[in-house]
Amino acid sequence: MVTVTMKLTSRVQHLGCLLALCFLAQVLWDIPGVWALDNGLAMTPTMGWLHWERFMCNTDCKEEPDSCISEKLFMQMADLMDSDGWKEVGYEYLCIDDCWMAAQRDSKGRLQADPIRFPSGIRHLANYVHSKGLKLGIYADVGKKTCAGFPGSFGYYDIDAETFADWGVDLLKFDGCYCDSVEQLADGMFHSRDLAMSKENFEAKPNYTEIRQYCNHWRNSGDVYDSWQSVKSILEWTSSNQKTIVSAAGPGGWNDPDMLVIGNFGLSWDQQITQMALWAIMAAPLLMSNDLRHISLQAKMLLQNKDVIAINQDPLGKQGYLLRKEDNFEVWERPLSSLAWAVAMVNLQEIGGPRSYTINIASLGQGVACNPACFITELLPTKTKLGFYEWTSCLKTRINPTGTVLLLLGRSQTFKKLP
Ligand code: GLA
Repeated sequence: MVTVTMKLTSRVQHLGCLLALCFLAQVLWDIPGVWALDNGLAMTPTMGWLHWERFMCNTDCKEEPDSCISEKLFMQMADLMDSDGWKEVGYEYLCIDDCWMAAQRDSKGRLQADPIRFPSGIRHLANYVHSKGLKLGIYADVGKKTCAGFPGSFGYYDIDAETFADWGVDLLKFDGCYCDSVEQLADGMFHSRDLAMSKENFEAKPNYTEIRQYCNHWRNSGDVYDSWQSVKSILEWTSSNQKTIVSAAGPGGWNDPDMLVIGNFGLSWDQQITQMALWAIMAAPLLMSNDLRHISLQAKMLLQNKDVIAINQDPLGKQGYLLRKEDNFEVWERPLSSLAWAVAMVNLQEIGGPRSYTINIASLGQGVACNPACFITELLPTKTKLGFYEWTSCLKTRINPTGTVLLLLGRSQTFKKLP
């Protein structure tokens, strides 16, 4: 469907290993001198499913036929994304992470899928995924090996780009393990268009202007685990670094705090609400890593909440930030189109029951959100119209431990819904 030419460019040399874990949406351009990843993709944060957190590197299809990394797993997820309302609310990319490959390249140096676990091959899988109206993402590594030890793309950038294009892959998660030095990467990065690209980036002072030229989203923090500790530490990292990272986000390029683990085992209901609300405030890619075959109705309703997704996908494309932290409460806010604002109030206290928090309306939305008045709707935990609030008034909320109240502040009662 798409022709990918992988362009090797010395301009990217110095990005080197920093470009680990860049999601790039497929198909390249070969227009020299055009350096923004202006591929028209990810104008709002990417939405989809990615296998890593839930299924990791399970290659044992004999013992665990239902949860090993195999074409069957992805076909089942594609079926469900299509049939169970996921695609309808925007989850579009079905993404393969590490461990899909055979241990060796083929005789022509091309990557190949593990023949036992992917007997029909990736091209067939891409066709299948496309037939469901979805897009397929794949994983590769800038260095000599992937993080799990499968063949890396170093020395094979062209051939791998061609292979992915040939297969009809739509997104590449480009990881950065086993990348010994910047020199090692001499000529190396995909220079592509239409390939959603993600990156992992642990250097002290990343140059986001540069990163945006190659990636549609990039990781800044460590891997998300299925735990409150992990979600909390990602939020902490984000707020501590917001001065640098918030302005880097915008249509075409987003900070990626990693996968949504909602629907798994480690987060309480309130913590799942917090992850969904804050990923919306952060304009984060919404890449679920869960088992769509076995997911509670409650988690599904949360992940498919159209009002919250509309905040995440707001066309203004401005990432939110931590406004205030006091008494173990955090107040985050995000400017939205049509002069609306989203506000999330998190109760971080892990002892005791629900606590009340009162906020001056005038302090929200840089003093303008509710000037002279605004209509406030609680979106999470329960959708409730709270009514009109004047600039001089206060709003009292009650928030469960580790939970979040997500509010929408609008000029009127209506808020633009998803198309
Ligand atoms: C790194 C990435 C993860 C995942 C694994 C795969 O740890 O951060 O998201 O892709 O590699 O091995």
